[in-house]
Amino acid sequence: MSVAQWHDCLLVGYAAASVFVFVMLQFFVKAAYGKHKADQLAWWWGPGVPTRVSWIVMEAPSSIGFALIYFAGARAFDAAPLVLLLMWQAHYFQRSFIYPFIRSVRPGDTTPLLIPAMAFVTNLGISFLNATILSWTEVRADYGAGWLTDPRFLAGAALFVAGYHINRKADRMLAALRKPGETGYRIPRGWLYEKISCPNYFGECLIWAGWAIATWSSAGVVFVLWTLANLLPRALSTHRWYREKFPDYPSARRAVIPGVL
Ligand SMILES: NC(=O)c1ccc[n+]([C@@H]2O[C@H](COP(=O)([O-])OP(=O)(O)OC[C@H]3O[C@@H](n4cnc5c(N)ncnc54)[C@H](OP(=O)(O)O)[C@@H]3O)[C@@H](O)[C@H]2O)c1
Repeated sequence: MSVAQWHDCLLVGYAAASVFVFVMLQFFVKAAYGKHKADQLAWWWGPGVPTRVSWIVMEAPSSIGFALIYFAGARAFDAAPLVLLLMWQAHYFQRSFIYPFIRSVRPGDTTPLLIPAMAFVTNLGISFLNATILSWTEVRADYGAGWLTDPRFLAGAALFVAGYHINRKADRMLAALRKPGETGYRIPRGWLYEKISCPNYFGECLIWAGWAIATWSSAGVVFVLWTLANLLPRALSTHRWYREKFPDYPSARRAVIPGVL
């Protein structure tokens, strides 16, 4: 099979897997980390890995793996692909090597091995799909220098930046909820948290919607589907968790889309 055929097969595979993952996470199981770990843990999740290590293992393929695949392409030094590479790395370098150290981690907290193991593999596949469309002539879309002034790139980049701002600010606000030594949970207050329980997931979805528009690619669309499949069920269960745990939880707050869901 040619590289293009492999690429197409993987695209279809991820689109189908998105539907499967959404159904599983929405109706049958919650990923056993963070606030949903206690009620989900079972032997088949595997032994616990220190949570900071788990985050680095999960996300590093999307930074290092993406860069290696990208620079194996013949058009890696073209201007527009380089800008798109920088956008991707602005997110994933931070997520892999900075976020694990600024996230609040309860002393001794672990994440079951199955989670970083599955994320390592699936993030590598997503990286292959999205890196190759930028720089591999076999599968790449047309990103000449003019792409950087194309309205699709400009609109997508604007959405990406807005999502990035929302995602990072929401994550910083969560990290600030616990004072040193605290391990419990509080109701987040202020800013977008007055509208939705999970502005971090809302921002993440905007980032990848922006990426899909800025790259105008099926790889970008499949990544949005994949992100929604993982984060929509998580946002809904997190919203339910807040309402059950805090009797005074603000009733007007929605889960993940202000005023809608
Ligand atoms: N692209 C994807 O598919 C994907 C998938 C998952 C995550 N992500 C991104 O990764 C980032 C983290 O995701 P996550 O699922 O770990 O988010 P999360 O469950 O909201 O937790 C984020 C951090 O905040 C703490 N925290 C959450 N709610 C809190 C509260 N009410 N009071 C005190 N501390 C609280 C958590 O502590 P505990 O760990 O102790 O709960 C954790 O340290 C987000 O930006 C998300 O968008 C992306």
